[in-house]
Amino acid sequence: MNLQELENKCQSCRACPLWETRTHVVFGVGNPHADLLFVGEGPGEQEDLTGEPFVGRAGQLLDLYLKAFDIARPNVYITNIVKCRPPRNRDPLPEEEAACMGYLERQIELISPKVIVCLGRIAAMRLIKPDFRITKEHGIWFERNGVPITATLHPAALLRDPNKKPDVFEDFKNICAKCKELS
Ligand code: URA
Repeated sequence: MNLQELENKCQSCRACPLWETRTHVVFGVGNPHADLLFVGEGPGEQEDLTGEPFVGRAGQLLDLYLKAFDIARPNVYITNIVKCRPPRNRDPLPEEEAACMGYLERQIELISPKVIVCLGRIAAMRLIKPDFRITKEHGIWFERNGVPITATLHPAALLRDPNKKPDVFEDFKNICAKCKELS
């Protein structure tokens, strides 16, 4: 199954109750052979309406970081832990994440990125370790099935607390250095 076939399958998914309230499945966008994969938490309102990840306010802030580091959005791949919006943007439930993880696992296999970046605590707890502490452990490199993986703060967290912006700037520097080292 290629990425398009996987997306087609995902578009009609009813593996958890989030299908009942979604407008669109937000599968992911970008280069199917990207070196750099970003994984967020789950679609918000704008993402649910458009079917694209990170297009709302948090997405616009992410775009500023990408621009600042000369990372073209179409060259990377951006997706989420859960592909359907949790009502009122609540955290995804563990069973919703579990029901959706097969899609992300397959996306990672097919894209085969050189570097994975978790955007926020929810993705880091799922992909790095369950007790991941975002404030203490962002910017640290781990390995997931042989692939370097790190986390930075979620852009929505930066909208709430702009004092953390320099931390994310440092994380992006470090992410770009890792990508260069591996290219
Ligand atoms: N927040 C996320 O985690 N993902 C999106 O796609 C949008 C906002």
